[in-house]
Amino acid sequence: MAYRNLEIGNRDAVRTITVNRPDKLNALNRDTLNELTLAFTQAAQDDAVRAVVLAGAGEKAFVAGADISEMHGYTSVQAQNFSRTGQRLMSTIERLGKPVIARIQGFALGGGMELAMACHLRIASEKAKFGQPEINLGLVPGFGGTQRLLRLAGRSAALELCLTGSLITAQRAYELGAINRVVAPEALDETVNTLADQLAHAAPLAAAGILDAVLQGGEMSIDQGLEFETQAFALAFATEDMQEGTSAFLEKRKAVFKGK
Ligand code: COA
Repeated sequence: MAYRNLEIGNRDAVRTITVNRPDKLNALNRDTLNELTLAFTQAAQDDAVRAVVLAGAGEKAFVAGADISEMHGYTSVQAQNFSRTGQRLMSTIERLGKPVIARIQGFALGGGMELAMACHLRIASEKAKFGQPEINLGLVPGFGGTQRLLRLAGRSAALELCLTGSLITAQRAYELGAINRVVAPEALDETVNTLADQLAHAAPLAAAGILDAVLQGGEMSIDQGLEFETQAFALAFATEDMQEGTSAFLEKRKAVFKGK
């Protein structure tokens, strides 16, 4: 299907979803949020897709936030609806059941940082800038920023970024644990592609179990989380991929996983 605000690409089992509004620094208006939710739902349903890369078009921004010109005229009721639309997208990404990497080359602000944080892994250029500047607009983050930043980087970092609205470098975001890797701008694509290929060749059902155990288990008590992990571990023994993986090791050959 054709999208107005997205570009979709496929490279082997890796799907790339690119927010394509570079003249607006890829700001997230309602249409873009809805298109992203649809594009991720399609990626989830397509068995040929084993990993997803989320990117922003142009050099300047991954995503510079929710669309301020659209939000400007909202009533509280419309704002509630907009927040829920954004939250639904973030949950769709987080619970995709397939690994999602954010490729971040420029501004990742407000809704852009929230979008990156909903992805499972974040690779950024040294030139990227992160922040939750909503307070400068008299706003509270509305697409999960207060919650995901808290969980990724802790209360001190979440309060500092959200209360000051200050921008931070990719290196600082890395030190806070908010992103996985910082690379030179010219190494960004190769780093993202290599990681995406590695994830796309991993056993898909095991990947889904790991995503579930870390994301859902992380919200439970330690005992509940450990039990959740036991169930995911046991379920893996019912898969052909587990037979293939262990046989390949014993036969000293490379495993080929089919997601069965
Ligand atoms: N919503 C809507 N439009 C946005 C936007 C956003 N979040 N961020 C950038 N844009 C638009 C600008 O209005 C401008 O459009 P125009 O050319 O039609 O005027 C275009 O994108 C380019 O942005 P500009 O501000 O001219 O670029 P810059 O290099 O001077 O500044 C930023 C870059 C990121 C510092 C600045 O755009 C900015 O502060 N954006 C808002 C960030 C924010 O507060 N995000 C959280 C929103 S809740």
